[in-house]
Amino acid sequence: MDLLQRCKGRRVVLAPMAGITDGSFCGKYRDLFGIVTLGALNLDSATLSASKEIVKRGRREFLYSLNKFEYFVKREIVKARESNALVSVNIRFKDFHEGRRRIEFLGEHCDIIELNCHCRQEEIVNLGIGQELLKGENIETLKDFLKGIQELEIGKPILLKVRANVVPVDELIDNLNKVKRYFHGIHLDCFNPGKDYPDMEYLEKIRRCFRDKIVIGNNSINSLSDGERMLKYGDLISVARCLLKGNVKWIAQFNRKTSRELSCSPLENPR
Ligand SMILES: Cc1cc2nc3c(=O)[nH]c(=O)nc-3n(C[C@H](O)[C@H](O)[C@H](O)COP(=O)(O)O)c2cc1C
Repeated sequence: MDLLQRCKGRRVVLAPMAGITDGSFCGKYRDLFGIVTLGALNLDSATLSASKEIVKRGRREFLYSLNKFEYFVKREIVKARESNALVSVNIRFKDFHEGRRRIEFLGEHCDIIELNCHCRQEEIVNLGIGQELLKGENIETLKDFLKGIQELEIGKPILLKVRANVVPVDELIDNLNKVKRYFHGIHLDCFNPGKDYPDMEYLEKIRRCFRDKIVIGNNSINSLSDGERMLKYGDLISVARCLLKGNVKWIAQFNRKTSRELSCSPLENPR
């Protein structure tokens, strides 16, 4: 069934926040989100070491023993399913071969895999991953990762979590066009350097150039009207920091409004 239909008419996604969006955090929002996202989870020793360094600087990350990955993930996914939403997992790795078994495991237990091309923490960027994967010089690495995941035939949609303005939008479009057969959707943080509002033009161009992909618009959505504005250019919208402020009420209103609109004009979507 189409991913959007499986969201049961709910158009809001809970975006990942490292060290915060675990199973309990996701699970406490029952019947609110179409998709909840766990992670970012590290799938290899290089990213786990990077996370440990990040924690030393006072930021939150998910730390666990890689030997106990399966146990940890299964437990968190069970809790996240209390949300009655699809469960996506935001993942990071440097060495695909080390992470491969864990991706297969995730494929058996979650609904969506989201490759993190977003993180800008120095320890992750120094590994040439996170937002570095969006740059032209790293596109072969991104391709190898995505091709490797596709060859696992896990049968789950692959999303890319992407930060806007790491590279200019036309450059990102060119880069993503080179790998477009390997992913199903783009989860775009419309990060707008030096501004406190999202870069909607960036999102609009991504939407226009990737009509056959799921597009999730994200950044600074705090109200029904923010959500409506973002939904003009996306199939779904996502939220992170507003939940930390307890700003949640508008999401139920948004669901009621958008599901009414959906039932008036049935979504015909091949995805
Ligand atoms: C504390 C924190 C941790 C985050 N961790 C991740 C992460 O692990 N992976 C990721 O793709 N995005 C991460 N993000 C980015 C969010 O998913 C989102 O793109 C960003 O916060 C903008 O959305 P917002 O304005 O609704 O917060 C994080 C954001 C915050 C605030």
